[in-house]
Amino acid sequence: MISFFTNKPLFKIAAAAMLVLPLGNAVAQTQPDAKMNVFVSGLMKKMTIDEKIGQLNLVTSGMAITGSVTNNGVDNGIAKGQIGGIFGLYGVENVRKAQDLAVKNSRLHIPLIFGLDVIHGHRTIFPIPLGMSATWDLDIIQRSAHIAAKEATAEGLNWVFSPMVDIARDARWGRISEGSGEDPWLGGKIAGAMVKGYQGTSLKNADAVMACVKHFALYGGAEAGREYNTVDMSRLQMYQDYLPPYRAAVDVGAGSIMSSFNTVDGIPSTGNKWLLTDLLRKQWGFKGFVVSDYTSLSEMSNHGLGDLPQVSALALKAGLDMDMVAEGFLNTLKKSLQQGKVTQAEIDLACRRVLEAKYKLGLFDNPYKSLNAENEKKDVFTEENRKAARLAAEHSFVLLKNANQILPLKKSGGTIAVVGPLADNKRDMLGTWVIAGEWQKSVSVLEGIKHVVGDNVKLVYAKGANITDDTEFMKRLNFGPGMVSLDSRSPDDMIEEAVKAAKKADIVVAVVGESQSMSGESSSRSDIDVPESQKNMLKALAKLGKPMVIVLFNGRPLTLTWENENAAAILDVWAPGTEAGNAIAEVLFGNYNPSGKLTTTFPRTVGQIPIYYNHKNTGRPYNDGPTKFKSNYLDISNDPLFPFGYGLSYTSFGYSDVKLSKTNLKGAETLTATVTVTNKGAYAGEEVVQLYISDPVASISRSVKELKDFKKLNLQAGEAKEVSFTITPEQLKFYNSQLKYDWEPGEFIIQIGTNSADTRSAKVQWKK
Ligand code: NOJ
Repeated sequence: MISFFTNKPLFKIAAAAMLVLPLGNAVAQTQPDAKMNVFVSGLMKKMTIDEKIGQLNLVTSGMAITGSVTNNGVDNGIAKGQIGGIFGLYGVENVRKAQDLAVKNSRLHIPLIFGLDVIHGHRTIFPIPLGMSATWDLDIIQRSAHIAAKEATAEGLNWVFSPMVDIARDARWGRISEGSGEDPWLGGKIAGAMVKGYQGTSLKNADAVMACVKHFALYGGAEAGREYNTVDMSRLQMYQDYLPPYRAAVDVGAGSIMSSFNTVDGIPSTGNKWLLTDLLRKQWGFKGFVVSDYTSLSEMSNHGLGDLPQVSALALKAGLDMDMVAEGFLNTLKKSLQQGKVTQAEIDLACRRVLEAKYKLGLFDNPYKSLNAENEKKDVFTEENRKAARLAAEHSFVLLKNANQILPLKKSGGTIAVVGPLADNKRDMLGTWVIAGEWQKSVSVLEGIKHVVGDNVKLVYAKGANITDDTEFMKRLNFGPGMVSLDSRSPDDMIEEAVKAAKKADIVVAVVGESQSMSGESSSRSDIDVPESQKNMLKALAKLGKPMVIVLFNGRPLTLTWENENAAAILDVWAPGTEAGNAIAEVLFGNYNPSGKLTTTFPRTVGQIPIYYNHKNTGRPYNDGPTKFKSNYLDISNDPLFPFGYGLSYTSFGYSDVKLSKTNLKGAETLTATVTVTNKGAYAGEEVVQLYISDPVASISRSVKELKDFKKLNLQAGEAKEVSFTITPEQLKFYNSQLKYDWEPGEFIIQIGTNSADTRSAKVQWKK
């Protein structure tokens, strides 16, 4: 058996090839790129066509997690050079075994790349991405990605399938939980922060992983919010509203991108040349590699694009570099080459991009990079990481209602009834995508409350309801064993128990909402109410007339009209992660004053979907007054229940009028818009001050307003601060009907406020 380190064949190739590098090339490229090209070219000269195609093959290794990577063909495939990467395998020993096979047993000793769905933390689980976005705190977000990278690398990984940057305007779609909401500008900022957090200052760093931006593109636009469904939208909408976050991730140097399951302009993304080559590479200058989503290559046949050889050739030609799981590239490309359906140059290009990724990660220097049993023990699930997860969770909670200042609760005296199926529950604290997260280690809400109040408050607990009583629904939720189970008691008995507990208490804290598997991939819902079993419990409790605080778990906006009318307070906690209970208790009892703001609009009913703040005006806008022949509904208001950017605090903030540095501007001049924000309440608190701009007259119909900037302020009780935004013509730009990105002169309305529906405004004229 050849040892990679004793033979070092690759280094020799690199050194020899470097001598013949034409000078012209070296001048045109940056030094590291030139070196990489020489190295990769040298290596590729040695590779057979089978070995090149092997690099394009990404396999999953479910069996590897239990330690059997060396059987069932995966080990053979690695040794034969038929596998370029593995995902779903982690842990130093598991990864080492697989890497050994590649670097010791394969002819050219090319290391594997190891990927995993590390989405909101690896072992230490942070809030779901929709919750993270509600922090409006790019430092917290970047840090969470860095911690995930550190934990992931400590377990042998070098590639994560994150960030997911799909814009979503449809709460029925379960994967809205995995993105950053509905705004393209904020989505882009978060995408950038995530990529920076994962990739660090250099991919060669021991604690850096390569990001994989997904799902390219428009995956969040699925019709009717149904998972994997058709997407069809105008180019204008793509460019203006859906593409910016992918672009932002590419701009900060994301190393890889994942194609989506859906079609774009009628062609599946995975085989869409306009998308993967013209837009991504030629227009945006992307230099990394493109991997398909799980079998999205072979699924092109279901989309009606032909058999496996045909769709594989199509995808390669379109610009797909790596095939996840479908083995379409592995099993058909050689024949397609012989038949002249693909070219050697096309295979070479894809192979080069995969090898370049490995090079950038430093895997050719050391394929065992970061495989260190010591780090695995010391860097994973540390106290420090848990603290960071708790802080992120606290900042992610959105206070939706707080009548009569019922929150924060008092830390001593009285009795609190803690009820609901998510109260004494560890399993559902983590949310979707927790491959390596261990729910047994999470903190339940009841535990968290006990940590904060000790014996100073009397607590009575009752489960009160099942997550759901609908056994058909339950079967679907149970895609993993024991995810949702039915209590042996009848629903009536359970409710009765909750009512009894509540009768003994001064305040009821009801912990309800969606369980882990109710959102995420393949979890679309047509009804986005709190499940009926839980709502029945809430209704019985409401009849008691005691103040009821709802702690709401949700991976998507829910329809909360009844809850808003009947509860005294609603604290939206999403799925907060490992430190759930501790973070929730800190906020309920006022150790942290909530500051989260919605990044997605909450509808009143499913019938309003799609609903989003940056909509068009229409020719017949409804702005109060008579309703006939206006753009509205007969049976419900147009307004959402909670708008984008909304979120309360235990204190309240007052906004002054907007002061502008000028009201007439020309060309590249800069405008400063200022407000004074005053903390008018009794608590110190943070406020997310939001800047929106409207462009009421343009060559196309524009959104009624667009978020352009925000600032997060910390104000002591009674304190006031001036907040200024600098506005340049860059923020006035949009895509016109020729898809040209530019601004048009005229009037602009500058709006600053606490959420998208509550702003102060001032007008300017801006000439070219
Ligand atoms: C399918 C999902 O769409 C994607 O987000 C994920 O990364 C892959 N499966 C791999 O697990």
